[in-house]
Amino acid sequence: MKESKKMVLVLIGCFLLFLLPFSVAFADDDNHKDPKKWYEKIFDDDDHDDDHESKYLTPVNNETFKQECGACHFAYQPGLLPAGSWGKILSNLPAHFGEEVSLDQESKNIINEYLQSTAAENSSAKRARKILKSLGEKTPLRITKTPYIQEKHHELDSNIFSRQSIGSPSNCIACHPTAEQGNYDDDFVKIPK
Ligand code: HEC
Ligand code: HEC
Repeated sequence: MKESKKMVLVLIGCFLLFLLPFSVAFADDDNHKDPKKWYEKIFDDDDHDDDHESKYLTPVNNETFKQECGACHFAYQPGLLPAGSWGKILSNLPAHFGEEVSLDQESKNIINEYLQSTAAENSSAKRARKILKSLGEKTPLRITKTPYIQEKHHELDSNIFSRQSIGSPSNCIACHPTAEQGNYDDDFVKIPK
C-alpha cells in the first residue's frame, strides 16, 4: 500500500516536470513583442539587466592612456579585461604583439593605476561581468581571446576580418561605430565593405 502511494506521487511529479516547458511556451504566446522562443530565453541571459549593472562600458577617460594606448589601435576600455590581463600586458610592453611599445616610467605608472582601478572586476557594466564570468580565473592577453567575446563573434566568417577596412578582430571600432562610447550593442553594429 505504502509502495503504491509512493509510485503515484513519483508519477505525478514526472507528469508536472513534463508539462513545465509547455507552460513556459504558452505563457510566451501572450508576449507578441518578443520574437524569442522560450528555449532561447532560457539560454540567453543578455536582456536581464539588474539595477546594479550599467548597459555600456565606461568610456576611456584617461588622457595618458588614450594617447599612449590608442596610438596604434582603438583605445580599449579597461572593463574589457581583468586586472591580471592588464598587468601582464603592461609588464611585457617591449614585446607587445610583435611591436615595441616604449613608455616613460611616469606614463606607465599612470596607465597602470588607471587600468587596475577600472579593470573588469571594478566595472559595473554588463559586458565586463559577462567577460569575467566567461574567463573564470584566466587572464588572457587579448579581449578577442575571451570566451564571451569569441562567442559573440563566432557566426562571423573569418574572411571578413581580413577586409582592408577591418584588418583584424581587434579592430572593434571598424564594426562597432559606437565603441568609443562603450556601446557594443548589436543594434549599432555595421560591418564595413
Ligand atoms: C606601437 C603600436 C602599439 C601601441 C603603442 C600599443 N599597442 Fe596594443 N597592440 C598593438 C598590436 C600590433 C596589437 C595586435 C593587433 C592585432 O592583432 O590586430 C595590439 C593588441 C593589443 C591588445 C589585444 C587586442 C585584442 O585582440 O583583444 C590589447 C589589449 C592591447 N594591444 C593593449 C595595449 C595597451 C594597454 C597599450 C598601451 C600601454 C597598447 N596596447 C599600445 C600595437 C600597439
Ligand atoms: C568584423 C566586425 C567586428 C569586429 C572587428 C568586432 N565586432 Fe563585435 N560584433 C560584431 C557583430 C556583427 C556582432 C553581432 C553578433 C550577433 O549578434 O550575432 C558583434 C557583437 C559584439 C558584442 C555583443 C553585442 C550584443 O548586443 O550582444 C560585443 C560585446 C562585441 N561585439 C564587442 C567587440 C569588441 C570588444 C571588439 C574588439 C575587440 C569587437 N566586438 C570587434 C562585429 C564585430
